[in-house]
Formats: sequence, C-alpha cells, structure tokens
Amino acid sequence: MAVLDVTDIRKRFGQTEVLRGISFSLEKGQVLSVIGSSGSGKTTLLRCLNFLETPDAGAIAVNGETLFDAAAPAALKEAEIRRRRLHFGLVFQSFNLFPQYTALENVTLAGKLLARQSPDFRDRKKETLSRIDAEGRDLLTQMGLADRMGNYPHQLSGGQQQRVAIARALALKPDILCFDEPTSALDPELTREVLRVIRSLAEKRTTMIIVTHEMDFARDVSSRVLFMDGGQAVEEGPPEQVLSAPVQERTRRFLDSYTTRRP
Ligand SMILES: Nc1ncnc2c1ncn2[C@@H]1O[C@H](COP(=O)(O)OP(=O)(O)O)[C@@H](O)[C@H]1O
Ligand SMILES: [Mg+2]
Repeated sequence: MAVLDVTDIRKRFGQTEVLRGISFSLEKGQVLSVIGSSGSGKTTLLRCLNFLETPDAGAIAVNGETLFDAAAPAALKEAEIRRRRLHFGLVFQSFNLFPQYTALENVTLAGKLLARQSPDFRDRKKETLSRIDAEGRDLLTQMGLADRMGNYPHQLSGGQQQRVAIARALALKPDILCFDEPTSALDPELTREVLRVIRSLAEKRTTMIIVTHEMDFARDVSSRVLFMDGGQAVEEGPPEQVLSAPVQERTRRFLDSYTTRRP
C-alpha cells in the first residue's frame, strides 16, 4: 500500500491557477525529487500536503486514510488538523528555527507541547520529558551535531541550522518528510553536509519528497523524479529516465536550460 496518494490536487490564488491537477503516489521508503523552474508550483504543492494551504480540488491520503478530500469537506477541529499535519514533516529553505531556543530545545519543543496535551501527562511528566530529550539528543547526534545541542541558532552555521531543522522535523516521526529546496540558501560546502544527512536518511529508507535544484543529487538519491511546469506534473519516473532520457519536450527544455545555466 502506498504511504501517500495525491489525487488531482488543484489550487488557485485569485486568477492564477498554481496547481492544475497534480497526482502521484509514494511507497514507503521511496524518495521523490520534485524539479521544475521557479514559479512552477513546487512550494505550493508541499504547502498543500502539509495543510498550510487548502487545495481547491483533489484528495490526499496517507496510509490509506483520506486526510483531505475537497469533494467531501469536513469541518475539522484545530486538534484534528494538527493530528493530520503530524503525518508530514517540512524542512524549509530558510531553516525557520526559533532564535530564542537552543538546538535541542528547537528539536524537542513541539513534542513537549504535544505531550502536555495527553491526559496522563501529569502522572508521567518526568519520564515523558526525559524520553523526548533523549530522542532529541539522539537525532542531533545522527545529524552530526552532538557537540552543538546547547547552541543557539545564531551560534550555528547555515548548514548546522538546517541539520537542526531536519532533526526537528524528524522528532515528530512523520510518515513523509518534505524538503523545500533545503540547500538553496547554503554555499557549496554547507550544501554538501546537508545533502550527506539527507542521503543517510534515504539509506535508512525514510520516505521523503525533496524539492531541489541539485540534479546530480536528485539522480543519485531518488527513487523517482517528478518534473513540474506551470502547475502540472509534466513527467514522472525513475531518475535515469526523467533526467537522462526525458520523454516530454518540456522536460528536455528545462534540463537543457538548466545545464547551460550551470558554470
Ligand atoms: N499566497 C500566494 N498568493 C498568490 N500567489 C501565490 C501565493 N503563493 C504562490 N503564489 C504564486 O504561485 C506560483 C507558484 O509559486 P510556488 O509554489 O512558490 O512555485 P515554486 O516553488 O515552484 O517556485 C507563483 O506564480 C507564485 O507567485
Ligand atoms: Mg519554491
């Protein structure tokens, strides 16, 4: 069974139809890279999956459970929306860490807030909080940040901050981890360290959707590649097909312009 089924998602902002019927599914452990020029709707797609935007049409199902269906709108309580959002983790281009919290606090904050809402929190407060801290330390260690747990974001490089953001997204154990151009704010060296972490997550069979401009990385790490243009899924398939032998003229043109633009 697919972890994620996206069916005919559409979204418009005013007169502009930004997503014009996107469909795909993702199996557990697969990595889908989404490529396409700026303005093609990649960020909007991730925001729809994470319920930061409401699609105008289409459906989203995770592990067979329909989380969103525009044809059957449900009036959801805040708590239910939050629960649905937990299926997805999102790592932004610009890290978005809380500046007033340490790396470890950034990673554990949401889990602690969530635990506090549990009815038996009072009885198990101490063990719950220390378990969340231990998991947070473990994640930061996996990100290569064992010696940075107590640092504030301003004391960390961009690459380190982004790795904290990845640990934070993993802390809530999402079914699908989404990245929106995770390295585009980073210089080449810091890009490499973040890509290394994402690659190690792929090796651990973490289900991921990665919006990226790093074509070599996409080729290397993805199970499949989706090329978007003008809000449409133009072509989707194994990386060697989409990136090396694309069927669609639009994909070819994008890849050509991309290679000529590169130094
Ligand atoms: N909140 C919004 N209001 C109006 N237009 C938007 C909004 N968000 C995105 N857009 C427009 O939607 C299109 C796709 O944007 P986006 O999803 O950010 O593309 P990408 O991530 O591929 O660059 C762009 O034309 C953008 O200007
Ligand atoms: Mg974008």
